[in-house]
Amino acid sequence: LKKVTTHRLQEMKNKGEKIAMLTAYDYSMATVVDEGGIDAVLVGDSASMVMAGHETTLPITLDQMIYHASSVIRGVKRALVVVDLPFGSYQGNSKEALNSAIRIMKESGAHAVKLEGGGEVAESIERIVAAGIPVMGHLGLTPQSIYKFGTYTVRAKEEAEAEKLKKDVLRIQQAGCFSVVLEKIPAALAAEVTQSLSIPTIGIGAGPHCDGQVLVVNDMIGLTKGFRPRFLRQYLDLYSQISGAVQNYVNDVKSNDFPNATEQY
Ligand code: KIV
Ligand code: NA
Repeated sequence: LKKVTTHRLQEMKNKGEKIAMLTAYDYSMATVVDEGGIDAVLVGDSASMVMAGHETTLPITLDQMIYHASSVIRGVKRALVVVDLPFGSYQGNSKEALNSAIRIMKESGAHAVKLEGGGEVAESIERIVAAGIPVMGHLGLTPQSIYKFGTYTVRAKEEAEAEKLKKDVLRIQQAGCFSVVLEKIPAALAAEVTQSLSIPTIGIGAGPHCDGQVLVVNDMIGLTKGFRPRFLRQYLDLYSQISGAVQNYVNDVKSNDFPNATEQY
């Protein structure tokens, strides 16, 4: 079994092989996602929403991210595991960013970290990379800045914002990022950015021309009730399947059908 490395992702871009990434937050999901052949697993700070029920990604702590990451690491044999630096753990200064990245690597056994932003985090990226820790960038819709933007709508539709994104993405590539997530930007812009970069782009709601794609696993298996944005392809309707199973179980218990003669000692 050959483990996926950051170098392998670069090789995939160079050869035109697409990179498939999904999030995972716990051991069980990490196991099934890894055995399904995923190239990279993201322990996203989306855990704040899908695991903890918060309205945004802001509340999740570094300790909580490390807990999720160490659970995921125990379930993954092949994929590259990337862990989000949570809000507040890296924006202060580059030393704080490095310390947070080191804690994630040491305490969870993860393979890389991810952080949001452009020029304003370039120094932090440089410092983390200099310490030997691979860094994935994240531009476009950056959910940790939701209160600055106010909505989760498509980003960089206007020329000025698109120009800023193009500058930022080059800056973080130069700072040493091994890859970058492009979230919710026009497909044409993502295509242009993907062409202009030497490192692989991983899109979410950013069209088909990125070097790879990422989705929140709970969304793609239909476990996030009522969340059906245009960019999402929902592969299962697990919410209704689990709900039906629970109803059947409740009925079986109440009607004395479960457990039956063979389901006991
Ligand atoms: O936290 C997350 O799930 C992410 C992906 C949507 C890229 O950052
Ligand atoms: Na994230």
